[in-house]
Amino acid sequence: MTIAATEPLVDVRADFPILEREIGGKRLVYLDSASTSQKPTQMIEAVDSHFRRTNANIHRGVYALAQEATDLFEGARQRIASFVGDSYQTTIFTKNATEAINLVAYSWGGANVGPGDEVLITQMEHHSNIVPWQLLCQRTGATLRYLSVSETGELSLAELDAVLAEGRVKLVGVTHVSNVLGTINPVAEIAARARAAGAVTLVDGSQAVPQMTVDLSELGADFYAWTGHKALGPTGIGILHGRRELLEAMPPFLSGGDMIASVSFEGSTWNDLPFKFEAGTSPVAEGIGLGAAIDYLDTIGMDRIRAHETDLTAYALERVIEVDGLRVFGPLDPERRGGVVSFAIDGIHPHDVAELCDREAVCVRAGHHCAQPLMRRMDVPATARASFHVYNAREDVDRLVDALRGAREVFGL
Ligand SMILES: Cc1ncc(COP(=O)(O)O)c(C=O)c1O
Repeated sequence: MTIAATEPLVDVRADFPILEREIGGKRLVYLDSASTSQKPTQMIEAVDSHFRRTNANIHRGVYALAQEATDLFEGARQRIASFVGDSYQTTIFTKNATEAINLVAYSWGGANVGPGDEVLITQMEHHSNIVPWQLLCQRTGATLRYLSVSETGELSLAELDAVLAEGRVKLVGVTHVSNVLGTINPVAEIAARARAAGAVTLVDGSQAVPQMTVDLSELGADFYAWTGHKALGPTGIGILHGRRELLEAMPPFLSGGDMIASVSFEGSTWNDLPFKFEAGTSPVAEGIGLGAAIDYLDTIGMDRIRAHETDLTAYALERVIEVDGLRVFGPLDPERRGGVVSFAIDGIHPHDVAELCDREAVCVRAGHHCAQPLMRRMDVPATARASFHVYNAREDVDRLVDALRGAREVFGL
């Protein structure tokens, strides 16, 4: 397949001020969006405007300024919920995806998982969707099991069925899109099969929400976690969506102000959803910023963003293999993967790859990508990873390929 050079499907680079930067006299090429995304002016200005014009604590004040801040924050929650097809009450703000998953592991897990039960996750999870389950299993005497990842970086529904048929799985945890392999997992199918077997599903959507349409009303997962900073929003805000009956039955996770209905010397009662799971002062500016980021994504259209990223991924997959000795991990069909390409080059450690790319002002990530078990499965200590977002263009991929060729020359290869 030869891909003709075309204009980017979406050219929004002017909206991202950081992309005007040069590093060492070279135009910055940012290819690490799977780690954190860059931020559009529209989001930056929403946060700036909040601090300049509407800053006050929310949910408490009776004065107009506090009401304005509350309306902005809760309005953002409403739009964020609609953006992914969920309702306001079941859209809970956390610090990040990691905290959202911990919330489920502690609150739901503590109440529903016990000795003899199993938690089933996959070999391609981020540490954020492994370690909370390891700790839950240690606390409760349950067993943690892993679905295997194939040579092409995919899961097997037959293996899922076989494990579910044993009848001990209480929860299936799976990433929607792998941050290393790019694999898009069939999460609706997984959730349906888990439910039929009496298990609940938690989907880690950290890499999915930023780059594709996610409609939770169709997905059928019981819990869905994601993180704002990868979706053009600020750091310090994540989201947990949950099935209402489950959230209502769950005990609080963190406790203190705001999550209570009443407190007496003897005990407390809990606030309604979503506030029951939001202890303490909320991430007000972060919520408002994420609302603006979502508006921005929505205006472009998630289907166009996905098409743009698929085009870039296809182009990258075609171009990087021009580099001698380069091996790509994950599915080779761009339609079956997100905008992330992990690779290794024979004879050069991934950290050296990233460092030599940096000399060309090309930012790629090197390491285990918080997925050490997956590295072990793939039999590599680390990979280099290029990942894309709406502000990247084919010329960024060209710059990457030039930098990789240069790296081989430095190593005398
Ligand atoms: C698939 C996946 N899950 C979870 C996370 C954790 O996100 P956060 O650190 O914002 O909680 C990441 C971040 O890299 C990720 O890629």
